[in-house]
Amino acid sequence: MSHQSKSAVAAAFSAAADTYNFGADVQREVAENLARRIQSLSLAKNPRILEIGCGTGFLSRAVVAMQPSELLLTDVSEAMLARCRDTLGSVPNAKFLVMDGEQPTVGGGFDLICSSLAFQWFDELPASMERLSALLAPGGHLVFATLGADSFGNWKQAYADGGMAPAMRSYPATDSLAPLLSHVEDEHLTRSYANGHVFLDELKLIGAHLAEDHYQPVSPGALRRVLRTFESGIDVTYHIVYGVFSKT
Ligand SMILES: C[S@@+](CC[C@H](N)C(=O)[O-])C[C@H]1O[C@@H](n2cnc3c(N)ncnc32)[C@H](O)[C@@H]1O
Repeated sequence: MSHQSKSAVAAAFSAAADTYNFGADVQREVAENLARRIQSLSLAKNPRILEIGCGTGFLSRAVVAMQPSELLLTDVSEAMLARCRDTLGSVPNAKFLVMDGEQPTVGGGFDLICSSLAFQWFDELPASMERLSALLAPGGHLVFATLGADSFGNWKQAYADGGMAPAMRSYPATDSLAPLLSHVEDEHLTRSYANGHVFLDELKLIGAHLAEDHYQPVSPGALRRVLRTFESGIDVTYHIVYGVFSKT
């Protein structure tokens, strides 16, 4: 089932390419955590690397430091990709490609395929992971961070309490991904915002405010009631699932 059209996702992130880095505190931290996990893996010297959903380049910077013999940086949003290219400057062996990571259009043989906080935008996560894994060289690793089921719990609950569905997607439980992976772990990051408006504003800054295609927008009054719940502050949980699939 399609949650949002790819062009709508690409347009939302492209519109946020200039503001993303100002609101992407959590994303920066997760990319750093993921980079540490990647560095602990056994990898070929000068690996061939594919990154999915590179955004402005938080994880890309870390993989550039691995001196890849080939580095293919991809994103569904052209403006995000352009921002990543500007940030990285001239990188030997790097190529940039607008690509939907769910339907990769590139040949295989990668030692590392990595992605930080892009897979939560996929419509079919297990099938897409399988397609990406098929592009790994023997001994290669697919390594990613994505949002898990516990994310945004109190925000979603406030909608449910008002008899409404939240605009956000449902994210997978860690246990549901475990059978597909060689290794999985998770963590819960919490960010405090002064009120619900500030939280929504941050989602807009990073381009992640897009509602699902079938979502019936709530009335302004209903949204006001949700925001009133968090008038004096909201602690938001980001449940981060880190997965590794290693090809034998
Ligand atoms: C939250 S940002 C994360 C960006 C970056 N990886 C980081 O850590 O900051 C999500 C990125 O995934 C991209 N994206 C969303 N759906 C995608 C898809 N199907 N294929 C490739 N990229 C996608 C968006 O355009 C956006 O740049």
